[in-house]
Amino acid sequence: TTARLYRIASIPGDGIGTETTDAAVQVLEKLAEVSGKFAFEWDHVDWNSKTYREIGSYIPPGGIERLKKSDAIFFGACGWPDIPDHISLWSLILPLRHRLNQYVNVRPTRILRGTSSPLSSCVADPSALDWVIVRENSEGEYAGQGGTTHAGTPLAVGTEVAIFTRPGIERVMRFAFDTAAGRPRKLLTMVTKSNAQRHGMVLWDAVYDEVRAEYPDVAADRMLVDAMTCRMVLRPRSLDTIVATNLHADILSDLAAALAGSIGIAPSSNLDPTRENPSMFEPIHGSAPDIAGKGVANPVGAFWSAAEMVRWLGQGEAADRLMEAVENAAAKGARTKDLGGQSGTKEVTDAVCKELEGMT
Ligand code: NAI
Ligand code: MG
Repeated sequence: TTARLYRIASIPGDGIGTETTDAAVQVLEKLAEVSGKFAFEWDHVDWNSKTYREIGSYIPPGGIERLKKSDAIFFGACGWPDIPDHISLWSLILPLRHRLNQYVNVRPTRILRGTSSPLSSCVADPSALDWVIVRENSEGEYAGQGGTTHAGTPLAVGTEVAIFTRPGIERVMRFAFDTAAGRPRKLLTMVTKSNAQRHGMVLWDAVYDEVRAEYPDVAADRMLVDAMTCRMVLRPRSLDTIVATNLHADILSDLAAALAGSIGIAPSSNLDPTRENPSMFEPIHGSAPDIAGKGVANPVGAFWSAAEMVRWLGQGEAADRLMEAVENAAAKGARTKDLGGQSGTKEVTDAVCKELEGMT
């Protein structure tokens, strides 16, 4: 049988994004080699804050068309201290999500074998925390509407308009119910702030009620976002799949990552469920200028994102194998400082490759 060839556009970006992406490419090559069922062809895309400084843009003309030729996109992180974060965010990652119709962002969180949680209840029983956060990824608070009048004067006025559309809510709600229905516990929690925000978030509640009626097998409940932070910390086992708006899920998923041990392990998938456009896979962490270039960044978030990419491409067995290798390596002590270990990025990467080799 001939190996299936996947064309992957890799965008390392800035800071530790380049370090964790290099590590993920190395591990993915090893995974392909040991699996024998598929191979990767890389399109290395050098869009980052340095090119922005040089040519004034992150995405050059024709850039989106270039990405559309790939089966999937692997992304590192983008942003650097000398460029305002709203410029880097709105010049690269947000346009990609919007232009490629990646309307859901899926963020799984669990406590990996060999790592531990700051929650004492989860130290006693790591299985108490096993969540998938489904984040609306195309509109809401990050729709980009608003403006500034009298900028830079004492009379400055800024508006930030959140956009919630029925089709936008409905498609992410259905995805979340499908996700919950596909997991053993069939449990979904829908998060809003519909007591204080009485238009768009009340529309979320209404769509939730409608879609819920179509999924009698899923046990669903709803929470206000402030109370949700307490529930995540105090009753982790009461949660499984979580759906929330763009802003709320952005915040809750960082909390989830910290509760599972570190932001350095958390993955995310920006999906176009219609599969008309390539989906994009990235660790949730940023470029971490404070540790960039030191070789200490945790590559596990990138490895887990790589596993989710491989799963999305149809190679579920290889994805499971990669996660097994990551957990074996961690259990044997290959852990970076953020997880309380002593290893650098390279040692963890080599340890995971060695585990993969040992599994054939
Ligand atoms: P960050 O995630 O880069 O860093 C937050 C803290 O976590 C830092 O102390 C960092 O050292 C630590 N950390 C993050 N990833 C780690 C890893 N893999 N291993 C070990 N420690 C890790 O978030 P921050 O500092 O708010 O943002 C830095 C830059 O990244 C900004 O320019 C921001 O806009 C950008 N950013 C980009 C994202 C993206 O490209 N999707 C997401 C978040 C931030
Ligand atoms: Mg975030």
